[in-house]
Amino acid sequence: MSKINKIAVLTSGGDAPGMNAAIRAVVRTATYHDLHVFGISQGYHGMISGQINRLERKDVGNIIQRGGTILKTARSMEFMTKEGRQQAYDSLQDFGIQGLVAIGGNGTYTGANIFTEEFDFPIIGVPGTIDNDIYGTDFSIGFDTAVNTAIEAVDKIRDTADSHSRLFFIEVMGRHSGFIALYTGIGSGAGNIFLPETDGNIEELISVLKKEGRRKKLFNLVIVAEGNTNGGAVEIANIVKKELPNFDTKVTVIGHLQRGGSPTANDRMLASTLGYAAVDSLLRGERGKAVGVQNGKIVLTDFAEAISKENELNKDHMNMARILAM
Ligand code: F6P
Repeated sequence: MSKINKIAVLTSGGDAPGMNAAIRAVVRTATYHDLHVFGISQGYHGMISGQINRLERKDVGNIIQRGGTILKTARSMEFMTKEGRQQAYDSLQDFGIQGLVAIGGNGTYTGANIFTEEFDFPIIGVPGTIDNDIYGTDFSIGFDTAVNTAIEAVDKIRDTADSHSRLFFIEVMGRHSGFIALYTGIGSGAGNIFLPETDGNIEELISVLKKEGRRKKLFNLVIVAEGNTNGGAVEIANIVKKELPNFDTKVTVIGHLQRGGSPTANDRMLASTLGYAAVDSLLRGERGKAVGVQNGKIVLTDFAEAISKENELNKDHMNMARILAM
């Protein structure tokens, strides 16, 4: 195997706070090892259209604290086609790039898995998504910041809910994964949490709210993951309103606020560790794998395994959430 001396880095899928810290770690680790680094703009889309530029150490200064991604991101349909991937490969060849670090979520890994096999091209994945649904790592970059943002928002809603004695349904992100909802619910002391992984029992919620009404508990906060099977916060609030018309019910959708902002200390640490580990892995000849941290240790998981499994919610956390809300 010939020694790698030119690598590229891209961010793909939904952005996540800490992606910049990961890009910085990739560039700084690679330049330390005398590699040339290229940044690909707009993920796989930019790889196809040749939006590739040299990144030096100084180009990644003053970005560790910034949310979003300096490389921009995209979800590319073209990369799902053989022709698109061939063009992407040709672009990499034009620049003499011999290895790639792909920062993103499951969609990013799926694309990387096909590409790495099709062209026998070394790729290492780095988990970057606020959803925390990626198998092979305890946490993905951006999750901690998103949860902190959501909890800060819920704390503020709690003040006004308390003052006006209102019932609030607060929707957080997570189409397929309840990590943000569960952690936000526990961390903000919410009365009930609706996840995508469980149906959530609206009848039970209504009966609890009736009892609480009799006990003169005057406000309540319910966290709803956008992917709950009953619908989002609006739909659940409408069902409850029909049964409890006397409750002063409000809905807040936190939405994309959760995707932005300066990364927390945990996300900066995780992103730096994983960016560093990704370059180290490429240099050791690893390919077709994603880096992650499990129980404090850096681990590698084959893309095929990572995309066929999910990071699952901890059942104890789900029980604990119920008990603490009683
Ligand atoms: O995957 C991250 C995520 O923020 C999900 O939680 C959410 O469902 C989705 O992206 C939203 O995607 P978009 O920004 O494309 O609307």
